[in-house]
Amino acid sequence: MTANELRSKYIEFFKSKNHVEISGQSLIPENDPSVLFTMAGMHPLVPYLLGEKHPAGTRLTDYQKCIRTGDIEEVGDPSHLTCFEMLGNWSLGDYFKKESIAFSYEFLTSPKWLGLDPKKISVTVFAGDENAPRDEEAAGYWKENGMPEDKIAYLPASDNWWAAGPTGPCGPDTEIFYWVGEGLPPVGSNKGTDSANWMEIWNNVFMQYNRVDEKTLLPLEKKNVDTGMGLERTNCILQGKKSVYLTEVFQP
Ligand code: ALA
Repeated sequence: MTANELRSKYIEFFKSKNHVEISGQSLIPENDPSVLFTMAGMHPLVPYLLGEKHPAGTRLTDYQKCIRTGDIEEVGDPSHLTCFEMLGNWSLGDYFKKESIAFSYEFLTSPKWLGLDPKKISVTVFAGDENAPRDEEAAGYWKENGMPEDKIAYLPASDNWWAAGPTGPCGPDTEIFYWVGEGLPPVGSNKGTDSANWMEIWNNVFMQYNRVDEKTLLPLEKKNVDTGMGLERTNCILQGKKSVYLTEVFQP
């Protein structure tokens, strides 16, 4: 599969789940004064994540070019890029954790879609803190879909809380990883125990809060889902390559 084919499959899958395709936006954000560049698929959607009605409905899908410099020190390793493409699906007050996790698992593992080996997939969920509880709900849905207990790591907000900036919509997330070590992952291996051998490919954010200022986190009236799948990374693991730079996106 090529990156172009992966992008088409992603959009087709979410259309089959009643999502409407919307177009990606400029790298210079129009709807979000908190960032200089669009650094995640969610930036053009901030007003809608805060409650404004989106003209295309409550289930959306898109692909969005992003510029991200927050992790610039890691750029040049096998998986980090400053300019990349994020495949997204959105629920604006529509479905929440259950469907979001089921959609991701189906797209990744069904032979009709990506057909990835479930044994090589692990996830993380939010461990809980003073802002929100440990996300047993998301972990429960992963288990319902067949994820073994030892492939679920509970990590703190530094890993499993998504906030695009100091204020704005935010919430706990569940991240999905693919095994990039040799053979099959050993029992007990997950992102928490063996970070180097798992590459993050997808992040599902459960946006249910609005950070108004440093001290105030308000629940959003409608709960949303914001997901971002890394096109270059997922393409890389589908092709069994050791680095995103070795795929046709960058070569020759
Ligand atoms: N907004 C989430 C991210 O960029 C999906 O990781």
